[in-house]
Amino acid sequence: MSVISVLPSAVANQIAAGEVVERPASVVKELVENALDAGARAIDISVQEGGRALVRVSDDGIGMDPSDALLSLARHGTSKIHTSADLTGVRTFGFRGEALPAICSVARIEIETAQCDGPGTRVTAAGGAAAEVAQTQRRRGTTVSVSDLFYNSPARAKFLRGSRSEWRAITEVVTTLALTRRDVRFDLAHDGRQSMGAPPAPSLRVRVGALWGVEYADSLLDVDDVAGPIQVSGLVERPANVGTATRRTFLSVNGRAIRDAGILRAAEAAYRSTIAAGTRPALYLELSVPADSIDVNVHPTKAEIRFQDRWTVERAVERAVRRALGTFDASASLGRSFFGGIAAPGLSPQIIESAVLAPQADDTPLFQSATSAVEPNGSSAIGMADPAERDDVRAEFTIPPLTQLRRTYIMFEHEDGVVLIDQHSAHERVLYEAFMHDLAAGSADSQRLLLPFTLSLSALELEAFDQNKQYFDRLGFEVEPFGGNALIVHAVPLPHTRFDAERCLRDTLSSLTGDRASAAAGRHEHLIATISCKAAVKSGDVLSDGEMRALFVALRDTNLPAHDVHGRSTIVQLAWTEVDRRFGRA
Ligand SMILES: Nc1ncnc2c1ncn2[C@@H]1O[C@H](COP(=O)(O)OP(=O)(O)O)[C@@H](O)[C@H]1O
Ligand SMILES: [Mg+2]
Repeated sequence: MSVISVLPSAVANQIAAGEVVERPASVVKELVENALDAGARAIDISVQEGGRALVRVSDDGIGMDPSDALLSLARHGTSKIHTSADLTGVRTFGFRGEALPAICSVARIEIETAQCDGPGTRVTAAGGAAAEVAQTQRRRGTTVSVSDLFYNSPARAKFLRGSRSEWRAITEVVTTLALTRRDVRFDLAHDGRQSMGAPPAPSLRVRVGALWGVEYADSLLDVDDVAGPIQVSGLVERPANVGTATRRTFLSVNGRAIRDAGILRAAEAAYRSTIAAGTRPALYLELSVPADSIDVNVHPTKAEIRFQDRWTVERAVERAVRRALGTFDASASLGRSFFGGIAAPGLSPQIIESAVLAPQADDTPLFQSATSAVEPNGSSAIGMADPAERDDVRAEFTIPPLTQLRRTYIMFEHEDGVVLIDQHSAHERVLYEAFMHDLAAGSADSQRLLLPFTLSLSALELEAFDQNKQYFDRLGFEVEPFGGNALIVHAVPLPHTRFDAERCLRDTLSSLTGDRASAAAGRHEHLIATISCKAAVKSGDVLSDGEMRALFVALRDTNLPAHDVHGRSTIVQLAWTEVDRRFGRA
């Protein structure tokens, strides 16, 4: 006896609904995507009780004729593809023809639609039963109302959360679509209260401003980079603003919002050494890649895609974000942080570009500062070994007059404004990159001590040393056990003439005991950040003119000049326009 029978379509639709319709937010997503596919310029979304009672989406798109309105509820009824060949390079959000029948199988649905203002069609159906069709009057476009979600599948209804968390999921869905399609107006209301109104926006920044405030939008940094056929653009958070609160992320590929943990990780990797461990930046990234290098049909709600060459895409993202963080503009501006939240336009990178050496080559070798930071007056306590020997970098450049303020900041003026550099943070950044370079190259210069010194340590400090011994070796520390809890130090690196090796080693080991960052990943970065902090000039140290100039040049030659290694700014800027404005001269 044969046992296989083809499922009735109502049952098949309910099964499909399990994949497509998980909760009210999935209904919102499918309906809004349909509106976008229909060419809507404005979409109005209103929900009741977190979408469990009602989800209604109105659009001003092309509408449907009466027979299409009915067919739209049929499984695999779609106007978007016709043959399997159309599957490559799909441009619409939908194409499976599954959403409306799936929704209809687990809820009550009403579709009102018209292709022009005037006569239209109303289709109603519930629980996958046969639909009723009637005539109606309306303006061009379509309104789909879905009520009593899961009224006929109590087992699924049990999994719905409270109104508030369903509502939160809906906001997330609408926000994501609003970021994706900035040419369209979005309005969203919950239980009759307007919660979002986003008019068409000319840029991602303007749209972010409409969603979360202009001040927040203005605080983000532009990402804009091209690597071969891959284009990466968007907005990312300044390292100095990255906090521990939950962060927002948005990612789209070829105009389709997706989730992709790998790409987010690549973007976060770009922040290495600029933000504190355990904090994560807000990221809004848009990628454009060749259409035939991705597969979008791998996920029922199209939330994920497959890349042919994921590695290259991730490297492109990391580089693009790194470049965004590498500009002087990436530092916080004085105007924002100290003058009552009034935004000062960030000074252009040229402010320092024009003040020092010739423009930076496109791909500055990592840690150039380690070798080429030279200033014309020679001796430098801050920077780098033997500047005098490097004729090749004795280029023509001018450094503006530098003034030390409060033994803490280095100030200079420029055509566009005033700049303050934090001497400790800046030096820390310089040393961090130089030490990282030494660690990678294993070529640290090290000075043999005429008189070796000993350190007697606590058991925890000794353990910290043992864990990091290989890194200390590579950095140029030559250290041996000296019985009990003591170490003897024969040679030390010489990052600058004020370097106090004994104190640095002692302070570094003692602060390494304080944390359990002993998991191998990132241990060397943590160690180097700590050593750099301990080895850098402090606030309170008086700097000579030559030292300030050396620091200035060395900082300029780092990869990420605007950020120290703890997630703070090294530089703040105050534009003349802001100064003029405050004096009433503007
Ligand atoms: N808001 C709308 N405006 C115009 N046509 C729509 C709208 N919503 C759905 N349709 C039509 O109904 C069809 C089925 O929709 P759906 O079940 O979501 O499948 P898909 O979007 O995958 O094609 C669509 O292909 C489209 O022709
Ligand atoms: Mg659809």
